[in-house]
Amino acid sequence: MGKIAVSVLSSDLGHLADSCRMINRSEAWSVHLDVMDGVFVPNISYGFPVIEAIARNMEKPMDAHLMTVEPWRYYQRYKELGIEWLTVHYETCPHLNRDLQEIRRLGMKAGVALNPSTPVSFLEQAVHYADLVLIMSVNPGFGGQKFIPESLEKIENLHRMREEKKLGFLIQVDGGVNATNAHILYEKGADILVAGNYIFSSKDPLAAIRAIM
Ligand code: DX5
Ligand code: ZN
Repeated sequence: MGKIAVSVLSSDLGHLADSCRMINRSEAWSVHLDVMDGVFVPNISYGFPVIEAIARNMEKPMDAHLMTVEPWRYYQRYKELGIEWLTVHYETCPHLNRDLQEIRRLGMKAGVALNPSTPVSFLEQAVHYADLVLIMSVNPGFGGQKFIPESLEKIENLHRMREEKKLGFLIQVDGGVNATNAHILYEKGADILVAGNYIFSSKDPLAAIRAIM
């Protein structure tokens, strides 16, 4: 059985407290917060005030996925908001080792995300500092996109890297996850699946979460 991180990006943001209640009652592992700045990705999602509102209603761990340039300017702020897992993009951090260590120093778990075009091998020298590696299985920026099949090979490569280096980071997969592909993602080595559109477009979100666990 895998862990599910529920992305609220595709939920009805006008009824955020209801979505939080659903997640609290569910078997999900975390709530996944997609922060987009309109610079690194061609979309703007939400920021600190909305995360604060979610935090007030949330009983599960909060896992933030930063699709923002210069993310290091705000690590302290995320810590204060109660974020437990903080994931930055490889493509936004020229000093990735320092960033991952800084996130850990602040008392959060450190995650690194890879765009679909970034190979897993680029993490060779930094992965020791990561508690989580996120494989993007769509180009980041929007919910509800189609899963990119080449991601499967990347999950496999990452799983192999973890075994060879005898490391314990978690493997998270984000984008286009549904009940049809969840099984194969776990088989390739995923520990956590992020899902938004599949859950919130379903008539029964609690059952949808169960269906991809
Ligand atoms: C995309 C985000 C994802 C997205 C997943 O940039 O990182 O977390 O919300 O949504 P679905 O499950 O709709 O692909
Ligand atoms: Zn995400």
